[in-house]
Amino acid sequence: MGRLFVTRRLPIDVRAETAPELDVAVFGEDRAPTRAELIDGARGSQAILTLVSDPVDGALLDALPSVRHVAQVAVGYDNVDVAACRARGVLVTHTPDVLTDATADLTWALLLAVARRVREGEALLRSGRFGGWSPTMLLGVELAGRTLGLYGFGRIGRAVARRARGFGMRIVYCSRSRAPAALEAALEAEAVSFDALLSRSDVISLHAPLSEATRGRFGAAELAAMRPGAILVNTSRGPLVDEAALAAALARGHLFGAGLDVFEREPEVHPALLERDDVVLLPHLGSATEAARQRMARTALTDAVRVLLGEAPRHPIPELS
Ligand code: DGY
Repeated sequence: MGRLFVTRRLPIDVRAETAPELDVAVFGEDRAPTRAELIDGARGSQAILTLVSDPVDGALLDALPSVRHVAQVAVGYDNVDVAACRARGVLVTHTPDVLTDATADLTWALLLAVARRVREGEALLRSGRFGGWSPTMLLGVELAGRTLGLYGFGRIGRAVARRARGFGMRIVYCSRSRAPAALEAALEAEAVSFDALLSRSDVISLHAPLSEATRGRFGAAELAAMRPGAILVNTSRGPLVDEAALAAALARGHLFGAGLDVFEREPEVHPALLERDDVVLLPHLGSATEAARQRMARTALTDAVRVLLGEAPRHPIPELS
């Protein structure tokens, strides 16, 4: 039937969930394989199940000429050189939808943690320095009546907006394409220009894929154009934000705080951000619920098996569908 190489241990038993005639190999260690390990492990495979931490480029594909399908276990696939895949007739699939709620929940966890200074409160208590309730201790930002600005208004941006309704926030969004009028009406979401997003939002949350158009989109000038005392949350991709510029904007007191789940040079974090109390940092946990990660694995695996059986995949990336 064919051979499938999985680049990391997944939260499902891949072998048990596939037909015995499919030869499945899984990279045995709980870290990303090196390039040499990936080539070694995937040699002779028709499909590889990849993660955001696996760069897939022309050189890799040339070293693995049997590979006809890259099944990415993530919705984002900026680690995959799509042009190189297209040039070699290699199919790319991904896992949209199945992690939307998990990522929207984590966005709100970060937003609330920053606005209500949860990290600082926890640290204070654990340090033994909490001397009792104080009317002026660790005062945060109230969200009701404030404006949430969404940069990107796809599945995850919209799910974040639905949750914002429960917090009584006004919603504005800036996106490549306008959402259907019925959806805008249901969420009371207003489409605005990028400049208006910066100047009107009390919280800006990023939900756009990484591309040449979005890389570095939140640099020094854009951060300076945000409202004084605003909050920035990023659960999309790190390189959308210039981390040095963000640290500088925080240091001069222009922003209230930031919540980051993704990093410009992941897994590295800018040292100036690590030192700050007004920043909440998480290790790329957006989709990290057991259910979401299992659905992601199954979605990618199902498409890999379908393609090996000569069927059309259910989730080709938009550029190749
Ligand atoms: C994705 O699906 O793109 C996430 O970043 C992986 O958790």
